[in-house]
Amino acid sequence: MTKQNNELEEEKQKLMKDVLLWKEKRGALIIAHNYELPEIQDVADFVGDSLELSRLAAETKKSLIVFCGVHFMAESASIFSPDKTVLIPDLNAGCSLAASIDGTELRKWKKMYPEALVVSYVNTTAEVKAESDYCVTSANAVKIVNSLPPEKPILFLPDMFLGDYVAKTTGRKNMIIYPGECHVHARVKPADIIQKMDEHPQAEFLIHPECGCVSTCMHYVASGDIPTSKTKILSTGGMMKHVQQSPAKEYVVATETGILYRMKKDNPQKNFIPLRDDMVCEFMKMITLPKLLNTLKNLVYEVKVPKEIAERARIPIERMLKLSN
Ligand code: 13P
Ligand code: SF4
Repeated sequence: MTKQNNELEEEKQKLMKDVLLWKEKRGALIIAHNYELPEIQDVADFVGDSLELSRLAAETKKSLIVFCGVHFMAESASIFSPDKTVLIPDLNAGCSLAASIDGTELRKWKKMYPEALVVSYVNTTAEVKAESDYCVTSANAVKIVNSLPPEKPILFLPDMFLGDYVAKTTGRKNMIIYPGECHVHARVKPADIIQKMDEHPQAEFLIHPECGCVSTCMHYVASGDIPTSKTKILSTGGMMKHVQQSPAKEYVVATETGILYRMKKDNPQKNFIPLRDDMVCEFMKMITLPKLLNTLKNLVYEVKVPKEIAERARIPIERMLKLSN
């Protein structure tokens, strides 16, 4: 290790120590998304996917929650826990997918299809959730859509790749899909998968349904060009569970690269390869140790969903939880 690297490591260790001291002092619960920086995951009380984190926020006895993730996730925690204080270390930690549609746009879309049910992915603002009939995550979208009356048209938003995946898997013909995307996952092309399959013939492929390649991969699987047993389309929480119980030794991971830190930490005997090194969400990486320390010291920045919106936004989330059990 060079002198400069040594100093940086010492600084990081000091910041981590200070964060843990202030966490104790404030009696706070720190929760972090699977995509967060390694040092943020290391100081968190719990690391998980967006739904797991919101559930945890609702269940904790602690009244102060520091959410290390992006803004819509902290909003979901606030919707679930209206009596608790939810803080985020950087209010600019947004999400390109959640930003693809706002409440005004959705209201306009609904007017064009007044008989349709609105199904929203969790990567949406509280205002959009408040205008929705059902919420879904990547883990339960197929199950929820399958449970809705077949004759009812569905407005699915905002992710077009997840929407296409759900429509193909359920065989549903009356889904109208909003053309939103996540800039990190949309850049994945089928050629990336083919190249990595050649380089790692023994590996299993874990693909997030937000990926731009997901429909083509399903087509390859259906036509036998890719073996079904080697390709899994999973949410981040689903990926974590899968690698723990699968006998495979090597995995190519097609989602934000932050998850590889947790995968390696929990499964040191296995090998994890990112599908693309540039699958990095700069919004997730805005949460740093100095900002987290600032949050704990100065009790900033609060994410509070107004009561009227929170009450309406809770309905599609609760319907989802009921149907996905
Ligand atoms: P999860 O809901 O699986 O945590 O993923 C959220 C996300 O932002 C995916 O890009
Ligand atoms: Fe949003 Fe994409 Fe970042 Fe996930 S990876 S938080 S969908 S911008």
